[in-house]
Parts: sequence; structure tokens; C-alpha cells
Amino acid sequence: MDATSLPFSPAAERNRGPILAALQALLPARARVLEIAAGTGQHAAHFAAAQPGWRWLPTEADERLHGTIAARSAALAQVEPPQRLDVRHWPAGGAVGAASAFDAVYCANLLHISPWATTPALMAGAAWVLRPGGLLVVYGPFLRGDGTDAPSNLAFDADLRARDPAWGVRLLRQVLAEAGAAGLQALPPQEMPANNLLLAWRRPGAGDLSG
Ligand SMILES: C[S@@+](CC[C@H](N)C(=O)[O-])C[C@H]1O[C@@H](n2cnc3c(N)ncnc32)[C@H](O)[C@@H]1O
Repeated sequence: MDATSLPFSPAAERNRGPILAALQALLPARARVLEIAAGTGQHAAHFAAAQPGWRWLPTEADERLHGTIAARSAALAQVEPPQRLDVRHWPAGGAVGAASAFDAVYCANLLHISPWATTPALMAGAAWVLRPGGLLVVYGPFLRGDGTDAPSNLAFDADLRARDPAWGVRLLRQVLAEAGAAGLQALPPQEMPANNLLLAWRRPGAGDLSG
């Protein structure tokens, strides 16, 4: 299929450049990366094309998107065929459920557009599949809840909750608490364009990953 006829996210096209720069600063040139909620596969294709040493496994709960993800990365040998993964039902075993199998886990724009249970499930699953020293990187909007939040993020939160009461922009401190409970060590949050944050955590242990 011609890439121009594939399902397309304008937001992913806008944010892929700043996210790639942040990932390049965090990850080494060679890394095995598990992507959660790959969506249209635009991030997988863009990041892997820019960093051929990143072996990228895109996963997505919605299997209807797997053909799109595969088509976008068809020319990239370092992108593996997409696999189904719903982080709320993370399997034991297989490529996505193997302990200590990945140098990094990457997830963009999932936690606000799924029930809260997704957040602790992502943290626990990532802590399981990351090797000691590996990194979990999460991109998206988050709220500080201290009166400093951007009006656009507060409006987005209200819009999400109107669409589905289980959705909503997550409180940063609650997300950090869940990651801490999973045994992950937080790095400083990075401000990103359009009032988004890039959050990163390290699984403690030998062989810390650095860019
Ligand atoms: C807003 S899209 C983000 C896609 C892509 N990461 C991006 O930034 O463009 C959210 C994606 O999360 C997926 N998703 C929702 N719940 C999920 C879950 N429990 N586990 C894995 N993926 C999920 C949806 O199918 C959808 O593709």
C-alpha cells in the first residue's frame, strides 16, 4: 500500500522530531526497543529510519492497525513485525513478555486515552521486560494539579472525560508513584512542545543505559 493512503496522525508527524531528539539523548546507538501502543506506526518508522541501530518491536492492542504499522516500516529491516499487546493483559513469555529482553520501552500518548489501570500495568510490565539499567520512556500530556497547568491540557482533560469517564490526562505525581511502586527510578521530566512531557525511568541494576 502507498504510504500516503495509510491511516495518519497529524500529531505524530508534529511531535516525532522533538521525541526523536530526546530519545537520541537517552538511548545508545544500538538498542532493542519495545514500543507500546504504536498506533499508525509513524513513530516506529521515523525513529528506526533515523537510528538503524535501534531494533524496534512495535506493539499495538488494536490489531486492525498492524497492517498499517507493517506497511510504514516495510523497507526497514530493523523494525520487526508488529505484535498484539494490550498492556492490561501483559502475557508472560513470547517476545513481549520475556524478562529482561529490552534495552528500552517506549510509549506515547496512551495513558490519558485508556483507563487508569493501564498506568500501573505499563509500569509493572516495563519493569519486567526491561533489562537492569534499561529505560522506560513515556510521552504525552500530564497534569501537575497545582494551578500551573496549561489551559489547553485542562480543556483536553475535560474533553477526554466527556468522551469516556475512564479516560483523562493523568496527574504526574500519581504516574510517578506507580512507577516507583514498580521499582523504577525516575529521571527528570523533560518539557516538550505543546505542553507535553517526556518521562523516563530506569530499571535499577548493573549496566546503566546512557546515550
Ligand atoms: C492516541 S493513540 C497513540 C498512538 C501513537 N503512540 C502515537 O503517539 O501516535 C493511542 C493508542 O493506544 C492504543 N491502546 C489503547 N489501549 C491500549 C492498551 N491497553 N494496550 C496497548 N495499546 C492500547 C490504541 O489502540 C491507540 O492506537
